[in-house]
Formats: sequence, structure tokens, C-alpha cells
Amino acid sequence: MTLKELGFKHKTDKANHGYLDAYEKYISKIAGVKNILEIGVRTGASLRMWKEYFKSALVDGVDINPDCKKHEQPGIRVFIGDQVDHKFLDTLNDEYDLIIDDGSHVNKWTVDTFNHLFKRLKKGGVYILEDMQCSYQDLQKINAKVKWSGMSYVPKIPIQQRETIDNLLVKLSYCVDQGSIESVNIHKGFILVVK
Ligand SMILES: C[S@@+](CC[C@H](N)C(=O)[O-])C[C@H]1O[C@@H](n2cnc3c(N)ncnc32)[C@H](O)[C@@H]1O
Repeated sequence: MTLKELGFKHKTDKANHGYLDAYEKYISKIAGVKNILEIGVRTGASLRMWKEYFKSALVDGVDINPDCKKHEQPGIRVFIGDQVDHKFLDTLNDEYDLIIDDGSHVNKWTVDTFNHLFKRLKKGGVYILEDMQCSYQDLQKINAKVKWSGMSYVPKIPIQQRETIDNLLVKLSYCVDQGSIESVNIHKGFILVVK
């Protein structure tokens, strides 16, 4: 089955967003995928999709909502914590082939997590920053705290304090020039970095 077919089978909204054909183009080039990390578990749908696609990989999920622990099953581990808690992130695996951030979608936190976790991505691995359209929404106006799953769990930072992704992109394009990152790919709805 293709990644997109598996996405629909497991009912992750990544399939409806039309991300999965593009993801497959990049991730099929990663050799011998052993470890995957996704920030944002919710129903566990995408973790099950990854597990079925990469049958011999160990899939780790991170979510701030303690209820998500119930989505653990053989080959899928769920860790409960905040994506900006560096001490918590340091307890995760040392190396990943694929990292997907589908967590808070608040730029300030997305960038913070990227800066902390990118060193754990293997050379040739892929890091995906998902749902970047959220960067251009006024979180106050759309009442994100109520509408976005997860927002209610993280009230400690006022939601208007989000940052744009621009600074990160400038830094990454410099890294591509210097040869420390292979490519930065901007698609509708997501940014995909190949190390
Ligand atoms: C869009 S859902 C994830 C959907 C899942 N990846 C899928 O495709 O099936 C976002 C999840 O991120 C979690 N989340 C929100 N803020 C977070 C944070 N600061 N740290 C960790 N998880 C967070 C929410 O609890 C929610 O379950």
C-alpha cells in the first residue's frame, strides 16, 4: 500500500491535507529506517500509519495529553511531555531517521523543538514541520486555544507570542549553502528538511 492509502486507512488528517504523496517521495529515499519520532499523537492514527509503512521501525510518539499513552502497542511507544521541555526531549532516543512535528503548531514552540531535536536526526534523515499554514493565522482571532487540540493543555505561554518561521528558514538556507544540510523543501502546508 502507498503511504497515502495507509493514511486513509488509519484516518490521519495528513491524508486529507494531501501531504502523503509528497512525503513518500522523500522518505522512500531514506535507507533502512529504524527509528521514527512524531510530535503530536491525538488518536494515534499517524503512528499506526508509520508502523505499517515501515514495518521493522520503532515508532515513538510524543504528546502533552496523558490520554495518548493508551495508543501504545507493539512497535509504538508514546511519551507524555511538552515539546518545548528540553529535559523531557533529552530522554527520547539518541537518533531518528524521520521526525515529524505535528504538535502545537505554534511557531515559537515548533522552532524551539526543531532547534533542540535536529541534532538527533541522522544524516540523510528527514525532518517535517507540518501544517505551516497555521503560521499565518491569528491564533487569538480563530480562538485557537479552544479549537486546536492540545492548546488547552499548554496555557503557560500566551498564544499571541508566536514567532514566524522566517528566521529558521534563513538559518537553514545558510546551512544548505555550507553543505551541513542537504535541502529545505517548502510545500503547501509543510516544510521538509533533508539532512
Ligand atoms: C494535530 S494533533 C496530532 C495528530 C496526529 N499526528 C495524526 O496525524 O494522527 C496535535 C496533537 O499535538 C498535541 N500537542 C499540542 N501541544 C503540544 C505540546 N506543546 N507538546 C506535545 N504535544 C502537543 C495535542 O495534544 C494533539 O494531540
